[in-house]
Amino acid sequence: MDTRPIGVFDSGVGGIGTLAALTKELPNEHFLYFGDTLHSPYGTKTTEEVQLLVRDVVAHMEQSQIKALVIACNTATGAAAAMLRAEKTYPVIGMEPALKPAEEHWQGGRILVMATPLTLRQEKFFSLMERFGAHAVPLPCPGLMELVEQEDDIGAQKYLEDLFSGWQLDKVDAVVLGCTHYVFLKPMIRQMLPERILITDGNAGTARQLKRVLTDKELLSDSLTGYVEMETSGDPDIVLPVMHKLFVKGLEIE
Ligand code: DGL
Repeated sequence: MDTRPIGVFDSGVGGIGTLAALTKELPNEHFLYFGDTLHSPYGTKTTEEVQLLVRDVVAHMEQSQIKALVIACNTATGAAAAMLRAEKTYPVIGMEPALKPAEEHWQGGRILVMATPLTLRQEKFFSLMERFGAHAVPLPCPGLMELVEQEDDIGAQKYLEDLFSGWQLDKVDAVVLGCTHYVFLKPMIRQMLPERILITDGNAGTARQLKRVLTDKELLSDSLTGYVEMETSGDPDIVLPVMHKLFVKGLEIE
């Protein structure tokens, strides 16, 4: 039994939805969340730039003696998960676009994979496409995470309308939210798409994976109540209230 914290990070507020899913699955754990707001977005940077940023974030989290790390960011996972796993002795859990359940739902149409440009350029994504991407179409969404960070719902609605207007929706079977920021737009996207289109994301799967790993390695906490701490490299007066609000919203998103 181990009461040390679990580190969770993203380029900004996107991973807060993942964090909400983690607390639902593991209510006795102590989570430490870091949003690298000052250096966001990651998705329009190079792999090398993101690796350097991730190193700094992780070094900061290690000062709190984390027992495991969750990369609550598809982009940082693609760019830096393998690097971290090669270096660290604690478990590193990453995220990837939830293509498998989308492909299982395939009914003859297309599967749209929304993600950042950098996620879609990674070797990791190519290998995912080889396994589950027979009907998938990558859809880079530069600029969309910023609208979530700014809580710009009108801008996001417009962005998504433009994005989906290029597709015949009766020929789309699933939409994969391959960036943790986009999960906060799920209720909006659900309203825009026909009911039969499945929308997938990786939050619940990541939470189950973390639980499996902690159980296997006997790292679960036995404390009676868990808790969450949040930090940002941006202006805490601006970012922390948004994080708190999104955490509550994240708890409600299925
Ligand atoms: N939330 C991140 C992801 O899951 C990316 C956002 C960014 O571009 O920084 O990919």
